[in-house]
Amino acid sequence: MIKTILAIDTSCDETSVAVVEGRRVLSHVEYSQIAMHVKWGGVVPSIARRAHEERIDWVVEKALTKAKLDLQRIDCIAVTYGPGLAIALEVGIKKAKEISQSIKKPIIAVNHMEGHLYSPFVQNSKGNPKTDFKFPYIGLLVSGGHTELVLFKDHLTYEILGETRDDAAGEALDKAARMMGFGYPGGPILERLASQVNNQDIYHFPRPMIGSMDFEFSFSGLKTALLYKLKEMTEAEKNKELKNLASSFQEAVFQTLMKKTKKAMIHTGINRVLLGGGVAVNNRLKTTMRAMVATQGGSVFFPSYKYLNFDNAAMIGVVASIRAEHGFFATVDDTIDREPRLSLLQSSI
Ligand code: KG4
Ligand code: ZN
Repeated sequence: MIKTILAIDTSCDETSVAVVEGRRVLSHVEYSQIAMHVKWGGVVPSIARRAHEERIDWVVEKALTKAKLDLQRIDCIAVTYGPGLAIALEVGIKKAKEISQSIKKPIIAVNHMEGHLYSPFVQNSKGNPKTDFKFPYIGLLVSGGHTELVLFKDHLTYEILGETRDDAAGEALDKAARMMGFGYPGGPILERLASQVNNQDIYHFPRPMIGSMDFEFSFSGLKTALLYKLKEMTEAEKNKELKNLASSFQEAVFQTLMKKTKKAMIHTGINRVLLGGGVAVNNRLKTTMRAMVATQGGSVFFPSYKYLNFDNAAMIGVVASIRAEHGFFATVDDTIDREPRLSLLQSSI
């Protein structure tokens, strides 16, 4: 029986390491690179790789110290092998292999999106929240790279109901913020501006694919609608209207997410909804999603701690614990390689 897992995630711009036991997180340390990427308006892969390489040993060390454990007490190493930036993922995988060889313990390779899906069940060191699994769920994963509606049938068993055909929800928010002259990441900036006008929707931007019979998303047309609106305006008008533009754009994205989630609930008859990913930290999305799910007589589950919305190794460790319980280990550790475009379906058992 696997007890203590050291988990590593270097899929994007956070160098993150956690020590977990089952669903309990004993320690979690991350080194965020966001400040290094801000001036480029997004994540630069080569900068990300170098920063991961420079920091990974320190982050591993710190996570063990915080958990008050030395490496010999680790039973297994978990590492994200996709999806993500290839050259960033490689840093975590290399480190996992090094540790595995030095302490002669196995590696479990984990899909980053599985981590986001399990993130509402990750517990603190005291075992809170106590929420038990009650399958099946509808999972809505919304981050900078992904927008997916998932049928989470049972442990490690997934079906993708729909996904975005172009931009992810977070990417749309980031691009909108940039068009309005703001920095990266755009999601929190738009949330703040929108709250200052009580999340009003005075521009009624198009809700992309809202009437389509499927569970697919498309956000690039919405982005174009904003671009045209901005072009119509003088600088003075733009400055005066920034809050309303931000709020209306955010509403268009969130209403679309909500409508498709509701459609998925009705279609499947499942009324328990999970939300994961960076966009799911947004209070407006949480409030409106909670209200919508309540009208369907259901419940909605979010990550309990803010860091779990973003890229983190704790959720990767928790997935690895579940995989270990189900007997899924990497066969030969050396065969693990990065899979930048790894799909949730490839990790479904
Ligand atoms: O999950 P995440 O950290 O990284 C990916 O795996 O992509 O998500 C990052 C995304 C960015 O697009 C960012 O703008 C968005 O999450 N985000 C937010 C908020 N905070 C971050 N979106 C809406 N509201 C927020 N408060
Ligand atoms: Zn992520």
